[in-house]
Amino acid sequence: MKNQNILIGTNWKMTKNLKEGREYVEKLLEVKKGLTSKIDLFIIPSFPHLIPIKQDLEGSGVKLGAQTMHWEDSGAYTGEVSPSMLSELELDLIELGHSERRQYYNENDIDVNKKALAAIRHQLQPLICIGEDHLDKDNEVGKERLREQLKIALKGVRKEDVKNVMIAYEPVWAIGENGVPAEPNYVAEQHHNIRALLVELYEEFGEEIPILYGGSVNLNNFEDYLKSDNVNGLFIGRAAWDMTSFKEILYTIDKNY
Ligand code: PGA
Repeated sequence: MKNQNILIGTNWKMTKNLKEGREYVEKLLEVKKGLTSKIDLFIIPSFPHLIPIKQDLEGSGVKLGAQTMHWEDSGAYTGEVSPSMLSELELDLIELGHSERRQYYNENDIDVNKKALAAIRHQLQPLICIGEDHLDKDNEVGKERLREQLKIALKGVRKEDVKNVMIAYEPVWAIGENGVPAEPNYVAEQHHNIRALLVELYEEFGEEIPILYGGSVNLNNFEDYLKSDNVNGLFIGRAAWDMTSFKEILYTIDKNY
């Protein structure tokens, strides 16, 4: 898997207005001109910005995704957005099960599974986020928790479809302002466990599924995470929203990997 392109993406969460988002894209496309093709980039803006940002990205090769969706194609679900609506926009990917969705909107593993199956039906590439919380970690059941999340999220996903799935491992305790960056050895071990489970479930296809790491990734630690065999990319929040640090991360990866 290490000889594949490195995937680098950012979820903007609920942070940018349209003007800021478009300015960000303009800068990103400038930075991208200095990169070789080793890095596959993707960005995940808020719903109202998807159409204009898609236009701005046209022909750039930067992939575009949405932050969540419902699993039903249509129905009485006020406030929700359906997979068919998102596939009309010809998005590339859909982020599912981010820890903030699980924490604030009660999304559970079964919801994530329904969404993953719906995404596959609509040719949207699911980016399934999993991660143990600090209680799991303190009680040394992180590995088991990840196994449970992933097995449920992938239930019913067939071998021939699984090659379009991406996994983001993001320990809940490492994410955001109060997050504590994880030790690179710990990340390597969990990525190894995730890979082993994917191979157990999908044999050789399990080797091909990209596993990204996320949670307080920054200029000081990104290289340590990327050194692990089973870290196939990074899913970055704050350090990617700031183009100065993101640019340095991207140029370093481009030069050294
Ligand atoms: P962070 O966010 O890099 O700001 O910790 C990561 C994420 O929530 O995906």
